[in-house]
Amino acid sequence: MLKITFSPASLPAQQALVLTVAEKTHLGEQGAQLDRKLGGILKRALEDHHFSGAKEQVLTILTPAKTRLSRIVLLGIGDPAKVDDKLFARLGGVACAALNGKDAQAVLLVDSHKALALPVAELAAHAAFGARLRSYRFDKYRTKLKPDQKPALKNLTVACAEASKARSLYASLDKIADGVFMTRDLVSEPANVIYPETLAKECVELKSLGVKVEVLDEKQMKKLGMGSLLGVAQGSVNPPRLVVLSWSGDPEAKDKRPVAFVGKGVTFDSGGLSLKPPGGMEDMKWDMAGAGAVIGAMRALAGRKAKANVVGIVGLVENMPSGTAQRPGDVVTSMSGQTIEVLNTDAEGRLVLADALWYAQDMFNPRCVIDLATLTGAIITALGHEYAGIFANDDALSDQLVKASNAVEEPLWRFPLGEAYDKQLDSPIADMKNIGSKGEAGSITAAQFLQRFIKKGVPWAHLDIAGMAWLGKDKPLCPKGASAFGVRLLDRFVADHVER
Ligand code: BES
Ligand code: MN
Ligand code: ZN
Repeated sequence: MLKITFSPASLPAQQALVLTVAEKTHLGEQGAQLDRKLGGILKRALEDHHFSGAKEQVLTILTPAKTRLSRIVLLGIGDPAKVDDKLFARLGGVACAALNGKDAQAVLLVDSHKALALPVAELAAHAAFGARLRSYRFDKYRTKLKPDQKPALKNLTVACAEASKARSLYASLDKIADGVFMTRDLVSEPANVIYPETLAKECVELKSLGVKVEVLDEKQMKKLGMGSLLGVAQGSVNPPRLVVLSWSGDPEAKDKRPVAFVGKGVTFDSGGLSLKPPGGMEDMKWDMAGAGAVIGAMRALAGRKAKANVVGIVGLVENMPSGTAQRPGDVVTSMSGQTIEVLNTDAEGRLVLADALWYAQDMFNPRCVIDLATLTGAIITALGHEYAGIFANDDALSDQLVKASNAVEEPLWRFPLGEAYDKQLDSPIADMKNIGSKGEAGSITAAQFLQRFIKKGVPWAHLDIAGMAWLGKDKPLCPKGASAFGVRLLDRFVADHVER
């Protein structure tokens, strides 16, 4: 695990150095000083390699003469007057990826450039955050990794003027990163390790941070009438769980009602009797990424002691075909009392959420409900891997979430809801069916289905994160694999719109 510390701006004698370089004005105070010491090689390198200092540009100088440094990584920040937190988080990530040598130690020097738009301490804290996020690895099952296949970097010192201010700003970002890492771990784990019971156990760990954790088993859910969730679970030998995580960080709140996060936690989605094709079925271990994001967000909020009251509810099931599995055509009765004709057992996420959403509203009278789910393949057809979809019955809530999403670069794109779509769900024998017309707005009809389980007057938003939960390639803040999309977004939503 990468350890991050802060120190006053100074230059290291050995190992690796990352140095920020601005567009046009180029070297900052420390950089200029180093360049003098090195007889002008930095300036020469900038000129010889068309390195302009543009945003996220990287130039590595290996084994520079006159020093015992192994490398100097020049890192472009663009126009100092236009920098922001998001850019510096990305830069920290880019720096972390560029430090892929033999060094156990490196210094990331966030220089004092002229006319920086923000205090250097704030930029340095976000650079540290980005570096930590990018350093994530899931190696626990790789028992034969050779030393050179493992990251050498163990300690990153982020150096800047105002180091102690940077350190204290970083403290809460570090807790958010803890939440992100927890989610990435849970989502990366295979389905023979993480299934409803074991995922519930991981939730119980959050008690140590002051989160109240309640785990409902099959019997309790039966008593509550959760026929929709239980119908999905009945094909698996692994029994379902419903976990309620409560963080009461603002006991004196004027509005006592909590915000509710609800997550789809299908620990494996084979499709059930409407079996998925084998190609890519292994991906469906991450069909619990919505629940994973809710759990990680709760961890982040508790870790940084957010002044807010939040409940996180995750519906945990495994969707399997078997002699006891739900059949296409079965009719189930949800906790809301509404009946559902299950025409496709692979449209299971909405069946799980139907009861989890109802439970959230029934038990907690929340001021708003936000659900996250890897709900439809259709959202990937629509948006690819660039945005998650947001569907909402409330413009203000939607706007707040979209703003938060842009602030942390976990972008959301809003989709419409409407009666005509809803009508597709009408069933001749039950209150509704669980799928709409084939090939027609599958993500919207899925959201319409969920909306039938939202009580009148409750502001609600649904985030379809199927395209964002797992990265096929590296990004600045995340190596390929589980992204933990939603954790930083939910945390930011709480920070900006719930905390006082
Ligand atoms: N978990 C899947 C959605 C999914 C598909 C996520 C691909 C990530 C990648 C969901 O349970 C599902 O199977 N949805 C069906 C719905 C259909 C049967 C109406 C789908 O999208 O095909
Ligand atoms: Mn499915
Ligand atoms: Zn699914």
